Amino acid sequence: MHVLVIGTGYVGLVAAAGFAEAGHKVLGIDTDQAKIDKIRKGISPIYEPGLDDLLAKHQASGTLAFSLDIRDGIAQADAAFICVGTPQSEDGSADLQYVLAVAGAIGEAMALRPAGAAPLVVVDKSTVPVGTAARVTAAIAARTDRAFEVVSNPEFLREGCAIDDFLRPDRVVIGCRTDHAEKIMRGLYDPFLQASKGQWLRMDPPSAELTKYAANAMLALRISFINEIAGLCERVGANVEYVKNGIGSDHRIGKYFLNPGPGFGGSCFPKDLQALLKVGRENGRPLRALEATVEANRHQKQVLALKVKSHYGCEAGDPAALAGRRFALWGLAFKAHTDDIREAMSLELIDSLLSLGAEVVVHDFEAMPNVRAKIGDRVAYAEDFLAACDGADALLVATEWPQYASVDLEEAGRRLKEKVMFDGRNLFRPEAMGRAGWTYHSLGRSTAF
Ligand code: NAD
Ligand code: UGA
Repeated sequence: MHVLVIGTGYVGLVAAAGFAEAGHKVLGIDTDQAKIDKIRKGISPIYEPGLDDLLAKHQASGTLAFSLDIRDGIAQADAAFICVGTPQSEDGSADLQYVLAVAGAIGEAMALRPAGAAPLVVVDKSTVPVGTAARVTAAIAARTDRAFEVVSNPEFLREGCAIDDFLRPDRVVIGCRTDHAEKIMRGLYDPFLQASKGQWLRMDPPSAELTKYAANAMLALRISFINEIAGLCERVGANVEYVKNGIGSDHRIGKYFLNPGPGFGGSCFPKDLQALLKVGRENGRPLRALEATVEANRHQKQVLALKVKSHYGCEAGDPAALAGRRFALWGLAFKAHTDDIREAMSLELIDSLLSLGAEVVVHDFEAMPNVRAKIGDRVAYAEDFLAACDGADALLVATEWPQYASVDLEEAGRRLKEKVMFDGRNLFRPEAMGRAGWTYHSLGRSTAF
């Protein structure tokens, strides 16, 4: 089949490479000239394991190409995927300007399709509120009388394992009204579902649109819940690892996505939660559990800074409470295996430490260029994570890069002024750390595990 993928960010680039991997002829479109130039040279503009190889392989074989102009591929396309951003507007709702701009461009370009061609399946893969398929339909229909159908096909991939998630999905959700659209979509996804034994879930477009937000909300809710339980464990002398195993072994609950952390971030959970809250309010169904999730996460993003302040006995309101102290910070990305720093808690932590007069030396395996572009030299950057510890008062861990977990702790301890660690990812065992002479602060583990 011929596939157009419009928007070559995290989702679009992975989808384009994934459909090419399944043998389809794919044209990726973006309005960002620099991005397209880079991709054409075989350089991925984002760090995503496995993506460079797929881009190189399929551009070389001619199954995957990139362009700035949607008109280059519209005539032959069986399906056109809209994969542009839906950032948060000031009032919390999803900003649909990019989605609707693409809809308009598709409508204009439809004249290039041969009269009598099969209806173009326009696929909304961006995360969009209920009713967007209808708005996209109206925007296209206002510009053409050629046949098309708008389908909702939300994307569930995670950054850092996006290729695997895309090629082996748990399920594919399709909101569509006709069998023609379903047939085209099945043709595209069947190879992936066969590989993963995943489920094909056809439904109406509004249900598909809401499924995406509800999935992210449920995942975020689990994280905030376990974070709150971890906080309680610290107060009552329990260990969150036991509690997590204890609840997760009930198959109705499940063991995944129950790792306490320093607050969830990323490009999607924070904005999608706000968008869903807005939809709830607008429809007279406030989502109270979700409001609590957002509030719990706001608190959780401060948790490491609060532990630092408590350890050093910082007086409330003292702007120089950490003056003269230096901290090594391992991990800047909002999670491991990505360079993405959108809504990363590391940025809030840096702000808190700097605002109390501390110096911060940071390290990350992929995200340092993005942080440098955002905050410049307010912090120092260490190319080597052990070197970040040299002369620092304490070590903080914000991202769970596996290399940190297998560090030579003796060496890290020797480089610090004192063996003090604030671990926001529970990478180490408290009892072993204690035996090795560390003052070790982690999340929710006030007893041995
Ligand atoms: P992104 O910001 O990385 O990429 C969006 C791309 O669209 C950019 O390259 C931009 O230049 C391009 N673009 C904007 N307007 C355009 C236009 N008119 N024509 C062509 N290209 C245009 O965004 P993303 O992270 O890939 O997210 C895209 C959507 O997918 C969002 O709705 C997001 O919520 C959703 N989503 C993201 C993820 C994720 O892990 N990032 C996962 C699932 C769903
Ligand atoms: C998330 C969802 O997992 C994807 O299914 C969805 O497609 C995507 O959002 C989206 O809509 O963009 P992603 O943001 O890439 O994917 O990353 P996650 O692995 O979900 O992690 C999100 C945040 O939660 C990170 O800050 C992570 O550290 C945190 N987290 C995750 C925890 O603190 N504990 C956990 O157990 C899991």
